[in-house]
Amino acid sequence: MSCMDAALYRIANSYDHWLQRRYVKSKLAADPAYAATAALVMGRPMPLLDIGCGIGLLGQYLHTHGAVTRYLGVDSDLRKIEAGNRALHLSGLGNALHLAHADGTARQPIRGHVALLDVLHYLPQEGQRALLDNAVAHLAPGGLLVIRNVLRERSLRYAMTRISEFFLRTSGWMRVGAQHYPSEEELRTPLEAAGLAVSVRSLHGKTPFDCYLLVAERAPR
Ligand SMILES: C[S@@+](CC[C@H](N)C(=O)[O-])C[C@H]1O[C@@H](n2cnc3c(N)ncnc32)[C@H](O)[C@@H]1O
Repeated sequence: MSCMDAALYRIANSYDHWLQRRYVKSKLAADPAYAATAALVMGRPMPLLDIGCGIGLLGQYLHTHGAVTRYLGVDSDLRKIEAGNRALHLSGLGNALHLAHADGTARQPIRGHVALLDVLHYLPQEGQRALLDNAVAHLAPGGLLVIRNVLRERSLRYAMTRISEFFLRTSGWMRVGAQHYPSEEELRTPLEAAGLAVSVRSLHGKTPFDCYLLVAERAPR
């Protein structure tokens, strides 16, 4: 096992329920969005705001890879923030990474990069717009907004994703089910209007699901 694998396993073992540990191990080992975010921000050291951070896995992943100077994760689900904070405390990272219970539209005392991984479709269309605006407001010059999301399209992957979202909701892991699947244009238009340079690529990997990575960059000063 490499040093990095050992570090990622240590992170997984800091979560308190065996089911959560299994979930964390598979996410850290196989979720392409974490690796993609680390690769994007690695050469641009600045703080990162993670909106809809869940149990704070992205922060732990980025910290392990030395890819972030300061991390604040916010989530509206208190259970997840508490579970994430317990894990940070156990792994001794409570001073380096911060998780707070807050809505994604609340202003935070941090400017830099912003991540929005698998969050937008849990909000209605107007809520998505408010979250996007708030994300943009936290970008520093040269900062990146990294969004991973399902995008509405006609494809088998899109249908498979909707089925998996149904099971996430009925299992209780997600308290609120998917509300609105945005199209690429719905995300691209307001970001470009805010002066950001936007690029989109698929992030399906080997999964059968619909998944895209959208990166919006604020020009350096
Ligand atoms: C599928 S999880 C993704 C978690 C994390 N971003 C990741 O990739 O591991 C979606 C998260 O978005 C959070 N969320 C949904 N609406 C939110 C809002 N308005 N403000 C903050 N968090 C929100 C949910 O509570 C949930 O933890």
